[in-house]
Amino acid sequence: MSEEIASKWNSRYSYSGKPMPAPARVLSRGVRWLPLGEDGRAREMEGPCKALDLACGRAANGHWLAQRGFRVSAWDISETVVEEILSRRPKMIYDVAVRDVVKVPPEPSTFHVIVVSKFLDRSLCPAISAALKPGGVLFYQTFTHGLSNPDYLLAANELLSLFDGLKVLEYHEPLPDDEGKAEARLIARRPEH
Ligand SMILES: C[S@@+](CC[C@H](N)C(=O)[O-])C[C@H]1O[C@@H](n2cnc3c(N)ncnc32)[C@H](O)[C@@H]1O
Repeated sequence: MSEEIASKWNSRYSYSGKPMPAPARVLSRGVRWLPLGEDGRAREMEGPCKALDLACGRAANGHWLAQRGFRVSAWDISETVVEEILSRRPKMIYDVAVRDVVKVPPEPSTFHVIVVSKFLDRSLCPAISAALKPGGVLFYQTFTHGLSNPDYLLAANELLSLFDGLKVLEYHEPLPDDEGKAEARLIARRPEH
């Protein structure tokens, strides 16, 4: 199954020269919840501030975080897109890897920030919560409308219930746009204790 998924995404990414997409709105509009210092750069937290762009695709979110001083890991199942990220210069992202995050989820208490956009595997949500360090923040954005496969669509308010134990900081669930697409956005924090 994971080979099929990788192959589907490899063919979608087998083009070149497209400009880097914009970061997900959940990040660009949620800057206030990032652990940034007064200089607008990632705060040192007993070492570098670690961020994960999970199922990163072209890693627009990871790139945006790296530009702000985060030590970013960006993982995706598609070898093609990972090769494309690795070929970029300058190398902005600290750790780029081919990784099936469903089979090999992130380790517990590892990241200060996790961002997930346009990806949904409900079985992974407990591991995503656990992969945040205490006080760490999750930025999650994905579709409620506009995809043909209903497995990848969130139900109304569903995103609010997928991350037990996290404190919700912001939630938005806009109505579909003119093309019938909409994405819910959640920002939530793992409590310190
Ligand atoms: C719609 S794209 C979104 C990419 C990126 N997050 C963005 O917002 O542009 C979904 C991504 O999930 C990746 N993906 C799908 N299943 C995966 C898995 N089990 N492990 C890691 N990545 C996976 C695909 O290769 C693809 O890059």
